[in-house]
Amino acid sequence: MTIILGIESSCDETGVGIVRLDRDGGVELLADEVASSVDQHVRFGGVVPEIASRAHLEAMVPTMRRAFEVAGLGLSDVDAITVTCGPGLSGALLVGVSAAKAYAMSLGVPLYGANHLAGHVAADTLDHGPLPSPCLALLVSGGHSQLLRVDDLSGKITEIGSTIDDAAGEAYDKVARVIGLPYPGGPPIDKAAQRGNPKAIAFPRGLTGPRDAKYDFSFSGLKTSVARWVEARERDGEEIPVDDVCASFQEAVADVLTAKAVRAATELGIGTMVISGGVAANSRLKVLAAERCAAAGIELRVPRPRLCTDNGAMMAALGAHLVAAGVQPSSLDLSANPALPV
Ligand code: KG4
Ligand code: ZN
Repeated sequence: MTIILGIESSCDETGVGIVRLDRDGGVELLADEVASSVDQHVRFGGVVPEIASRAHLEAMVPTMRRAFEVAGLGLSDVDAITVTCGPGLSGALLVGVSAAKAYAMSLGVPLYGANHLAGHVAADTLDHGPLPSPCLALLVSGGHSQLLRVDDLSGKITEIGSTIDDAAGEAYDKVARVIGLPYPGGPPIDKAAQRGNPKAIAFPRGLTGPRDAKYDFSFSGLKTSVARWVEARERDGEEIPVDDVCASFQEAVADVLTAKAVRAATELGIGTMVISGGVAANSRLKVLAAERCAAAGIELRVPRPRLCTDNGAMMAALGAHLVAAGVQPSSLDLSANPALPV
């Protein structure tokens, strides 16, 4: 039995997770504590890196304490540590990496610097067990929108598509600002959309032309289109049908994401799709993905919402995989790489 501590600090969530890796390869989640600085970013309409770094510094040790309390374990029980070393905000990542190095050095246990995106995919193993190889991951959050072919979580991950401008969650956050909904925009837009008509306004689906990169996404044009539509109504003194705008915008995002992901899985002959990241909590995305995957004969796996957003448990789950696969640990010279590729 091996106890693995996972530390995540790439954006505005300080996450500490603890898992137990059993001899038979089973992984059990023992603690998943998250401290978010999201409230401190609300009035800026987005994450302020300097504020996030400071918040991580303040939250790291208390979050760590809570995680050990919940797990009923002590620091001396830890056998290995996994920490997000990229991609993410530089100062934010450095807080987690520094903490992980200090704990690894003082406890004399191996340290694994690991990729945040691989962590998002690994989160699903906590809910649905080991991933088949290969599988296709659609990662959609405030910071990333990517399609990944995952052959092996311990290294063989290939990006087959990504956004060429805004991430899907970023589009939600920007559209929310345009129509006067609070940050982060995903949850309030999702709620309003359920009261609206998704066919009310024909917003554009980015990069879906015959000559466009088939697996890449673009959400900047959609966001601008929503802004122009709203501005035009405001100029004419008309009331904005917020619910219909939200439903139509949400339909455009879910349509493009699921169409491209299902197309990729079908064309690459991949039978399992994992959707993770904060936007995976979206109600319409989940329904449409389930419909389209079922029609295409693809197994769909979506972790519970708490494991879709940034957390330490996903890094601990990834760590369990790295340990089980016999991957070489990182050296204590490990640093953060804000642009770490998969
Ligand atoms: O994974 P996450 O917590 O942090 C990042 O790594 O970015 O994702 C946060 C993003 C935000 O942009 C938020 O608006 C979006 O996920 N989000 C949603 C929903 N819940 C959160 N987007 C659409 N629908 C939701 N229900
Ligand atoms: Zn993330």
